[in-house]
Amino acid sequence: MKLFMDTAAIEDIRTAARWGVLDGVTTNPTLFAKVGGSYDDVLREICGLTPGPVSAEVVAADVEGMLDEGRHFAALAPNIVVKVPMSEEGLEAIARLRAEGIRTNCTLVFSANQGLLAAKAGASLLSPFVGRLDDINEDGMAVVRELVAIVDGYGLDAEVLAASIRSPRHVTQAALAGAHIATVPLAVLRQMVHHPLTDSGIAAFRRDWEAAQAPR
Ligand code: E4P
Repeated sequence: MKLFMDTAAIEDIRTAARWGVLDGVTTNPTLFAKVGGSYDDVLREICGLTPGPVSAEVVAADVEGMLDEGRHFAALAPNIVVKVPMSEEGLEAIARLRAEGIRTNCTLVFSANQGLLAAKAGASLLSPFVGRLDDINEDGMAVVRELVAIVDGYGLDAEVLAASIRSPRHVTQAALAGAHIATVPLAVLRQMVHHPLTDSGIAAFRRDWEAAQAPR
């Protein structure tokens, strides 16, 4: 399973890149608002840190506006993927961007049917939001499982990107569900690295090594 960083924070992305685990990046207007500046500049910098897909999200509500923003983002770097929300206008924009050779990530997917429609319209990435479904007492991972079965079963030309990931457990569950990608914030990536027995084991080995160096 590929791992994307779910952030617009350059230092967080650099950290994942240094760890050798960075396959791509997803941003959205909320994540961008946390770092500020120019969205174009931030996107260009991120695209320089990874050759993987970097999602840039449109905010227009109408098809023409989505197309204008999408074409603008796509011109910034070859690895930009235009993030388009699931809606009637979004589906049309996805289909038209696909016809122009621009890759899209359909975001705000909360059901397998929405994901199926986005794949048929031509989205390369389908983003079911696991955490936000769990927040309202739904089973977010069930949508990932269903969508993976549909995409893989029919050989659709799209990848399921488990989004709105809130815990390391979500990552394991997404991998077991067959998600092609999970996008995670740095905090979750750090939680994946650490285990109390690993951390105490490292400290004990270091202590014992230092004790062995002391004169007897
Ligand atoms: C990524 O593509 C999504 O925009 C993001 O994972 C949403 O996460 P949130 O539900 O924590 O805002």
